Amino acid sequence: MADVDDGGDLRGLGSAAMVFRTIIEPFRIHSVEPLRMTTPAQRRAAIAEVGYNLFGLHANDVLVDLLTDSGTGAMSRDQWAAIQHGDESYAGSPSFFLFADAVRDLFPFKHVIPTHQGRAAEKILFTVIGGKGKVIPNNTHFDTTRANVEYTGAEAVDLVIPEGRDPSSLHPFKGNMDVAALESLLRARRGDVPAVFVTITNNSGGGQPVSLQNLHDVHDVCAAHGVPLFLDACRFAENAWFIHEREKGQGDREVRDIVREIAGLADGMTMSAKKDPMGNIGGWLAMNDDAVAEACRTLLILTEGFPTYGGLAGRDLEALAQGLREAVQHDYLRYRIRSTAYLGDALDRAGIPVVKPIGGHAVYIDARALLPHVPPLQYPGQSVAVALYEIGGVRGCEIGTVMFGRRPDGTEVAGAMDLVRLAIPRRTYTQSHIDYVIEVCEEVARRAPDLRGYRIAAEPKALRHFTARFERLAP
Ligand code: F0G
Repeated sequence: MADVDDGGDLRGLGSAAMVFRTIIEPFRIHSVEPLRMTTPAQRRAAIAEVGYNLFGLHANDVLVDLLTDSGTGAMSRDQWAAIQHGDESYAGSPSFFLFADAVRDLFPFKHVIPTHQGRAAEKILFTVIGGKGKVIPNNTHFDTTRANVEYTGAEAVDLVIPEGRDPSSLHPFKGNMDVAALESLLRARRGDVPAVFVTITNNSGGGQPVSLQNLHDVHDVCAAHGVPLFLDACRFAENAWFIHEREKGQGDREVRDIVREIAGLADGMTMSAKKDPMGNIGGWLAMNDDAVAEACRTLLILTEGFPTYGGLAGRDLEALAQGLREAVQHDYLRYRIRSTAYLGDALDRAGIPVVKPIGGHAVYIDARALLPHVPPLQYPGQSVAVALYEIGGVRGCEIGTVMFGRRPDGTEVAGAMDLVRLAIPRRTYTQSHIDYVIEVCEEVARRAPDLRGYRIAAEPKALRHFTARFERLAP
């Protein structure tokens, strides 16, 4: 390092990352967890036993777990230290005020209501604002968001731009809302739309960001129609980093300032703190509207807890307050986004079809393109996900026809895409783990012509991907 001419500005990874090709993890390891090694035969038995549903596996039987980036990140030394400050008072815990201040530092909403995770915030909010005859637009609803909207009898509508549904389109902000479509929905359904949602980043559409310009445009349309704008902001810091990297005029700004500008455009948010805020558990609901907040707090007390802890321990609130500060650090975000791209670019180079550009928290394999011989209603995403596990012990997640194919009226249709998501837990795996994953993906791609489709043998009424049992179809 000392020999590098950095113009006298070698202040750590920020500048080192520009000098050297290798993206190093901006941390060193403080406490380690063993990985559990298994053989292909053990894995084939384990997955058959649970009806080929990866959610049914014991995590002990998984080698590299890319099922989700939710709650699976490694907390920092400072977060573990913060846990010791947790105050477990039932009402008025100082940990709550610290948490609420950390949230408001980025998202200055009047009411901040902690919940145990994102879907608890969704359930409460949609119970208050949803119901039969209502419609909630979003760029793309996440599965729990859609389910919570539909559970109230309301309709969940996805209005992402057309490029957002095309796995190969290189649009830099594929999570953007189709503003013209939103405007015509607001006109056609005047009075039926209690809130417009934008999900940052757009998880179900490939972890793709939404531009600041698009958020401004959506805000303007919402304001013109008098409809509140809510953020589903689980991956707000990753989204803001993409804005910093890709949007004209944003490259010199601090990510935290971009986040504040985004928050200033919205009237409220639902949040899973298990993603960017680096929590193993947690979430919140925030808004400016007093009456909606009061109704939400009443429901919170029924299902989550008193409004100053809302389903979390004081120590969790402390860990999240610290995690929020770490989530917007540039060295961390540079590493985070580039290490996801490292996996995606390697798969792309190997000729494996992936959603492009590479998203923030995950790489999405286009299973429909990889297995053209498996029709969507035979679940190509499920087939690829099972193969990744059987061959290499890598657990990914189908995001396609299994997850989205069953309509509320009971009919089944192909999902918009059939993807397999390899989600990267935050600060958890090193580059050599990812190199291993790349090799496993290459082997699955080699065997793609032999992979078979599946049929569903049993499924519940809603959210079937968590518990359905599958049978592998004969060749
Ligand atoms: N919204 C988005 C965009 C999400 O990605 C998630 C969770 C939620 C809401 C719900 O939050 O899990 O805390 O209740 N996504 C996880 C995932 C489960 O794997 O993508 P939660």
